Amino acid sequence: MTHALSTPTVVAVIGAGAMGAGIAQVAAAAGHSVKLFDNRLGAAAQAIASIRAQFEKMAAKGKLSAQAAEAAGARLLAVEHVADVFDAGLVVEAIVENLAVKQQLFKDLEAVVSEGCILSSNTSSISITAIGAALKIPQRLAGLHFFNPAPLMALVEVVSGLATDQAVANTLFATAKAWGKTPVHAKSTPGFIVNRVARPYYAEALRVLHEGGADCATLDACCREAGGFRMGPFELMDMIGHDVNFAVTNSVWRAFFNDPRFLPSLIQQDLVDAGFLGKKSGRGFYNYQAGADKPLPATVSVQDLPADIRVHGQSAAALALVKRLQTSNISHTHQSPLGDTLATVGGATLRVTDGRTATHCAFETQTPNTVLIDLALDYAQAKRLAMSVAAQCNPSSASAAIGLLQAAGFAVSRLQDIPGLIVMRTVAMLANEAADAVNQGVCDAAAVDTAMRLGVNYPCGPLAWANAVGLGTIQTVLGHLAHTYGEDRYRTSPLIQHHVFAQKAFL
Ligand code: NAI
Repeated sequence: MTHALSTPTVVAVIGAGAMGAGIAQVAAAAGHSVKLFDNRLGAAAQAIASIRAQFEKMAAKGKLSAQAAEAAGARLLAVEHVADVFDAGLVVEAIVENLAVKQQLFKDLEAVVSEGCILSSNTSSISITAIGAALKIPQRLAGLHFFNPAPLMALVEVVSGLATDQAVANTLFATAKAWGKTPVHAKSTPGFIVNRVARPYYAEALRVLHEGGADCATLDACCREAGGFRMGPFELMDMIGHDVNFAVTNSVWRAFFNDPRFLPSLIQQDLVDAGFLGKKSGRGFYNYQAGADKPLPATVSVQDLPADIRVHGQSAAALALVKRLQTSNISHTHQSPLGDTLATVGGATLRVTDGRTATHCAFETQTPNTVLIDLALDYAQAKRLAMSVAAQCNPSSASAAIGLLQAAGFAVSRLQDIPGLIVMRTVAMLANEAADAVNQGVCDAAAVDTAMRLGVNYPCGPLAWANAVGLGTIQTVLGHLAHTYGEDRYRTSPLIQHHVFAQKAFL
């Protein structure tokens, strides 16, 4: 078993910005002496003063003893030269995101530290392999990718470049664990795990917005209230900043040689060009000026309670619908499965989206009055549900279907007839990307799910989510999206196909 670096090991953190200060705080709290260096005069000392204030705050709240807070604060030392970190057993670099500058720093460090010292970079987008190419001993370099804010976020990606010694990655993994973090191993590929697998969360929402599926507030509400995501994609992009988010999207897209999977959106480009960078600039998808109201999601007004409600089959959606109708004392019958029909009411046939538009589905199934509902993380708990109506559907049947969903307690958002609605296509594409990362040896299935739950707070790992939806359904949704758009972007991961044929779940 690989051991963590012992606490007498001196940790050097280079760069005392947002990330470096957070990492120094974590290492000092874990018992290491920490030397902090920044080439901006006074920055390291200033960061240490605020870390100490942080420790004092934690002591005041009873999270640390006063003694422990004082001791942790005393373990931090600001140094003025790179040469001062000569006795470090681990260096964590968190300086500007620039390959040449990072390579120069590591060259300078190699001239100073002992041969046994492990070197690591907190880079979020630069190849560890490329940084290592400048080193005499690239075997001792790995990525140690914390998430912002480092003291609070549990995830650490331990990233191996082509030359990285596995023993070095294992020591970093054990050390991150000893520091109270949840590490995952990743191979150095564009975006590592989180910044790669998270791309569809933004990309699919942007696609739906671009095609007029609904407005931002409605799509955000569906992702939160049906998808269980903590923040909707548009409010999240506004918070991250469109300059930052667009740069990450672009860098992952370019690094994958313009793979259409990662194609940036013109909407992002426009926001950046306009200087509408999100919360920090007062305007992004939403207006953050004082006094501006946040728009409400579009919710269909209450429709009449329909008669003769029949729910079909034993799917998660059907069982939850029955339960919700029972709870609200709405009369209905629960009948045996009828193909993929979820329910019938007022002449309408309700189905869960399979990636076709409602109009396409109505045409192929010869069921003109087709109404589709979106995926929910948990149909029993979801407050809101997105739905769409086939062009062939008569208005009274559409209204009956909406009345049924409302009677079951859902706020209903009617989207334009977009393939895969919003939550289903997003989850299918997140799972697709997660599966490709696993298939390409970036990480294992457990790591990708852990990374997405802890790195970006997803309510469920994408692969576990795909298992719950059914891998066959995910494959069908992706196939229909690929067919509708005719784009390689929606190609199904070979690993999803393999699992469907092997009748095997992920994890
Ligand atoms: P920042 O701009 O807040 O801090 C960078 C610090 O490095 C500055 O204080 C700067 O003076 C110093 N610096 C620049 N060049 C230096 C050099 N050659 N030698 C010594 N100090 C130098 O940046 P932030 O956000 O802390 O990012 C640092 C690194 O962490 C980047 O590689 C970034 O990609 C990565 N990262 C950032 C995250 C974030 O959310 N901000 C999340 C995860 C990783």
